[in-house]
Amino acid sequence: MTLLKIENLTKIYIRGAETVKALDSVSFSVNNGEFVAITGPSGSGKTTLLHILGCLDRPTSGEVYIDDKAVGKMNDKELDNIRRLKIGFIFQQFYLLPELNVIENIKLPLLFSGNPKKIGEEYLNEILDTLGILKRKNHKPKELSGGEMQRVAIARALVNKPEFILADEPTANLDSENSIKIFELLKRLVEKGITVIVVTHNNELASLAERRIKLKDGRIIST
Ligand SMILES: Nc1ncnc2c1ncn2[C@@H]1O[C@H](COP(=O)(O)OP(=O)(O)OP(=O)(O)O)[C@@H](O)[C@H]1O
Ligand SMILES: [Mg+2]
Repeated sequence: MTLLKIENLTKIYIRGAETVKALDSVSFSVNNGEFVAITGPSGSGKTTLLHILGCLDRPTSGEVYIDDKAVGKMNDKELDNIRRLKIGFIFQQFYLLPELNVIENIKLPLLFSGNPKKIGEEYLNEILDTLGILKRKNHKPKELSGGEMQRVAIARALVNKPEFILADEPTANLDSENSIKIFELLKRLVEKGITVIVVTHNNELASLAERRIKLKDGRIIST
């Protein structure tokens, strides 16, 4: 079943007299349960695409459909619900709050969500255990390694039991061994039925996904 469909997506940024076409008529779709890597050089539009897919930004033209529903026609409340309950975001800069420990950071999205899905301590512990950070539960971010911080960010993205994960360069700050571990982890999420779309400019990592979409200058050059 199609989870995401994008049609002729174009994004133009205007800065003074300068315009940048960050995305140029991009179309593709992603089925439920797929593991997709988006690759391409710096400036090719990967982050822009991910933000639009995640309803964090709107396209200049074109449309995104989530479960066959046009995002452009959704009201603020619908968009908010999708962002909070359906999507898990993993950003390159982990955005962990330094004053909160691991479990508090992970629980943050729950404060905002009013999630109808049941999320209890047992589920939280299961995520922490799967990610290998259960023992770090009470640590503050500054007491963690880069790889551990990234796993906390992944745990936080999972806390609302999202249907799909959007990850922007989740391994950019990690060595190759930890990067592969993170990708294997994403793979396990896919095996559990979560759809994963991950941006990376590392071809070796991209080859671990089932499918690759390659961008250049805002256009798809291969899928
Ligand atoms: N807010 C903005 N205003 C103007 N131009 C922007 C803005 N955000 C991105 N751009 C431009 O749009 C193009 C695509 O940017 P984007 O961040 O999507 O690239 P990327 O593929 O994620 O690159 P990287 O691998 O370096 O993260 C770039 O030329 C960038 O300079
Ligand atoms: Mg980027």
